[in-house]
Amino acid sequence: MTILETERLQLRELTLDDLEDFHQILSDPITMQYYEKPFDKEMTTGWIIWCLRNYAEHGFGLWAVIHKQDNRLIGDCGLTIQQVDGIGELEIGYHIHRSYWKRGLATEAAIACRDFVFDQLKKDRVISWMQPDNLASRRVAEKMGMRFEKETTNKHRTISAVYSMTPEDR
Ligand SMILES: CC(C)(COP(=O)(O)OP(=O)(O)OC[C@H]1O[C@@H](n2cnc3c(N)ncnc32)[C@H](O)[C@@H]1OP(=O)(O)O)[C@@H](O)C(=O)NCCC(=O)NCCS
Repeated sequence: MTILETERLQLRELTLDDLEDFHQILSDPITMQYYEKPFDKEMTTGWIIWCLRNYAEHGFGLWAVIHKQDNRLIGDCGLTIQQVDGIGELEIGYHIHRSYWKRGLATEAAIACRDFVFDQLKKDRVISWMQPDNLASRRVAEKMGMRFEKETTNKHRTISAVYSMTPEDR
């Protein structure tokens, strides 16, 4: 079922049938360079199960990003709750297949999620956070209207840059 649609993309819930396609993305060492290590199959399965749990608990999660023209799963983008300095923050996250980078697709998906947060969930704040040297991720946050807010320590005890916005920043 389509959750969100943009000019080039469809966002829908992930299922365990997406495992092979999705694993191609999360097992790629360059895509996962800001994570501890590229995912093995078990970790990708766990990631999908975490998404399924989020859909059930919150009505949102990281959704599958489908490239409409190619009819192909090219990533995930969506909403999760992240503990940032002891506060449960609504976060927009994104991972895109390396062969689709730099075409504005993460920005397009993130903007659709941003609008979902403000127009459908009626929330007044959303964040994205990433390792400070993840310039592509920082730029996606900026391009959807977020501003750098602070650096903080995450649960892995490494530093993250926190970006945030309110509906007025659109
Ligand atoms: C972050 C990511 C999703 C961006 O995807 P994308 O589809 O290439 O992003 P876009 O095409 O929408 O680009 C957005 C902006 O980032 C810039 N950008 C993209 N890759 C970049 C890079 N490696 N270094 C610097 N800027 C970069 C683009 O040029 C664009 O800015 P511009 O319009 O000013 O030129 C992708 O790089 C990715 O999947 N990375 C690995 C997973 C990850 O780290 N996710 C974030 C976890 S916090």
